[in-house]
Amino acid sequence: MNLVGNLFGSSIGRKILMAVTGVILIGFVIGHLVGNLQVFEHPDKLNGYAHFLQSLGPALWIARIGLLVAVIIHIWAATVLTLESRKARGPQPGGVTWLRATLASRYMRWTGYVVLAFIVYHLAHFTLGVVQADTFKETEALRHYKMTTDYHVLGFTAVHAGTEVLDVHSMVILGFQPPLVALFYIVAVGLLSLHLLHGMDSLFQTLGWRNARWSRGLRALVTLACAAYFLGNLAIPAAVLAGKLTPKPRVAAVAQP
Ligand code: HEM
Repeated sequence: MNLVGNLFGSSIGRKILMAVTGVILIGFVIGHLVGNLQVFEHPDKLNGYAHFLQSLGPALWIARIGLLVAVIIHIWAATVLTLESRKARGPQPGGVTWLRATLASRYMRWTGYVVLAFIVYHLAHFTLGVVQADTFKETEALRHYKMTTDYHVLGFTAVHAGTEVLDVHSMVILGFQPPLVALFYIVAVGLLSLHLLHGMDSLFQTLGWRNARWSRGLRALVTLACAAYFLGNLAIPAAVLAGKLTPKPRVAAVAQP
């Protein structure tokens, strides 16, 4: 069998695929969080960053398609591996096969479902603007934010002062003003953080790093990283709910007459 056949056609191959796609997705969520935390700085930062990403054109689409493929492979491999391990355990008395599944694997499945539902909602919310459409689509001021400073990427000016860009900064804040939406995000990123915690554990198992010498230190490191990830994500909706982050007055006035 060739490499692709081995990866997709064997249990260990599928575990490797889960690990590799998991690492790609972890890279994305960390990068996304670092980008989003610019919401605590001057609006030029998040707005310049979002405009720069949009201006990447085909490169952005390649990254989006890459992420989608990673998500699909990750879910496919997880499903096949779960079915295989159920089959290997054989039928259980009373047909309650799931009782034997480890807590972690059931946990991973359900946290995975919620994360998937969250991503669909999130895309409809901020990328497509169809949730809260009355606020986002009807607020003309959101589409005409004028950059007051240059936005730099790796020392180059990626967006010039004076450019009119989408006001993603106000959009994120308006997006979290309904308390139920903010709470849904908080619960979803909480479950995503738990998913990452168990996922990284399995990753280290696949890599063979969970031996007696390393396992404690790794576990502590991963727990710390997942807690920091959760707190970083929590900070944004929580700051909006607490009134610490508010949209620019012009946008706020139009969005909530
Ligand atoms: C407080 C947490 C978050 C905030 C404030 C946030 C904010 C945003 C915003 C503003 C966009 C749209 C960017 C634009 O169209 O210019 C976006 C897109 C996106 N977000 Fe988030 N996000 C958060 C958490 C997450 C999480 C946890 C995930 C993954 C599980 C995620 C996945 C995505 C994806 C896949 C996109 C689409 C990217 C694209 O259009 O290319 N986000 N997010």
